[in-house]
Amino acid sequence: MNKVLILNFGGQYDQLIARRVRESGLYCEIYPYNETLEKIKEYNPVALIFTGGPKSVYLEDSPHLDKELFELGIPVLGICYGCQLIAYEMGGVVASGKKEDLSEYGKVEVEFDDSSLLFMDLPKTSIVWMSHQDRVTKLPSGFMGVAKSNNCPIAAIANQEKKIYGVQFHPEVTHTEFGKEIIKNFLYKVCGLKPEWSMKSYKDVITNDIKKKVGNGKVLLALSGGVDSSVAAKLLEEAIGENLVCVFVDHGMMRLNESDLIYKTFKSGKSKFIRVNAEDRFLTALKGVTDPEAKRKIIGSEFIKVFEDVKHEIGEIDYLAQGTIYPDVIESGKGDAETIKSHHNVGGLPSIIDFKGIIEPLRLLFKDEVRALGKELGLSDKIVYRQPFPGPGLGIRIIGEVTKERLDILRHADSIFTSEMESSGYSNLSNQYFAVLTNLKSVGVMGDGRTYENALVLRAVTTEDFMTCSWTRLPYEFLDKVALRIVNEVKGINRVLYDITGKPPATVEFE
Ligand code: XMP
Repeated sequence: MNKVLILNFGGQYDQLIARRVRESGLYCEIYPYNETLEKIKEYNPVALIFTGGPKSVYLEDSPHLDKELFELGIPVLGICYGCQLIAYEMGGVVASGKKEDLSEYGKVEVEFDDSSLLFMDLPKTSIVWMSHQDRVTKLPSGFMGVAKSNNCPIAAIANQEKKIYGVQFHPEVTHTEFGKEIIKNFLYKVCGLKPEWSMKSYKDVITNDIKKKVGNGKVLLALSGGVDSSVAAKLLEEAIGENLVCVFVDHGMMRLNESDLIYKTFKSGKSKFIRVNAEDRFLTALKGVTDPEAKRKIIGSEFIKVFEDVKHEIGEIDYLAQGTIYPDVIESGKGDAETIKSHHNVGGLPSIIDFKGIIEPLRLLFKDEVRALGKELGLSDKIVYRQPFPGPGLGIRIIGEVTKERLDILRHADSIFTSEMESSGYSNLSNQYFAVLTNLKSVGVMGDGRTYENALVLRAVTTEDFMTCSWTRLPYEFLDKVALRIVNEVKGINRVLYDITGKPPATVEFE
């Protein structure tokens, strides 16, 4: 498999560049800029891409690289800081935007030299996204300028013989009109590569890798029913069949029909599937508990206790599988396969189960690739497009004590809201939507009678990464319809509120 390597110089768009490369049908990974030459050679890249970064090449603490990298004969594309770094290292001049106003920010019209392979078959002028202070003012020898804007006479550089290119703008962002085409031109025309990375090919490669690594060993996967653990389960099942043991702990705090869907999806497969119906013990442990952190801790530790109880059914284990995905790997800043994701569901498992290694079959995939792989493996849309759902489940969407009765009220109301979101198409506006049962009781009137019932909150958020979010602007008429249905159909709720707080200052979940 041909592999592209992205060296990250601290820019904000490293993952976006990786997306573009993979969309172009080539496999890539991101390494920090200071990765050793040895490691880079070992990776054996067919193309290198240098990202942007916040520094100026002249600063003492600015990131540099081993110049030998340019002697390996591997084509290079430098983006923004990456372009300036190429110019600087190869003997050109980069002027500092701090001294004179050289900066450009936003959409800028540039003129391409369309005889350059990088811009071939593109319109002569088009809009690109600039975001820089410094810029290249003198070309290194062997290089020519191949794009210019009013403010930036050298907006792209090229050494055609050595196949080293740099662009001052950001082709990876959608604001650059022909950004995807520029990246493809680099990969196909400059590097001579062909699209070859697809989910089908990846599935075959990774299944073989798993087979080789695991051999006849046994693998344990704690299945939460979330996208990542479900896709990991299907993949492992395809690779090692009955040597996979999946344990699904049904803590009784799942949404309507969710546990049965997970059961149906996995029960008839080749792996050993253990469903533990643990609702009673979780609810008993949560009796009378109202503090959010206490609830989370109890759910977490109960989860571990359930595993201890079914240890004899699981038997001897060689590997523990986890659904870690690429953004988690990059964020943790380590390429260390033994790092254990501190997910509440599996966080405590390593201390009670003996195993010799960890398997993370999705650790090179982005979330949408995980979904595509799930589809490739034949998982249903319901599983593949499932929203994030917290490990402690509805337990942290009930304010106050968690009881079976309150769980049933919430499940019913939540299913009305989510199904209305989906049938109306407003689900496309929101990345996560759900209902929360509060401990607020208020007076209402239904028919001729007084009611004194619970208030329910609807929450819908729009976000890219769930680190911050805004509340989804759902139409009043829609909210009106949902609220009416809920108070009419769900016994125990007489008031519906819509949460209009973003994160920060609120969080997505209430507890
Ligand atoms: P917050 O409430 O922290 O939520 O703004 C951000 C995202 O994380 C999800 N979430 C969890 N996921 N275990 C999980 O697996 C948890 O304990 C947990 N708590 C919050 C939440 O649903 C949202 O998508």
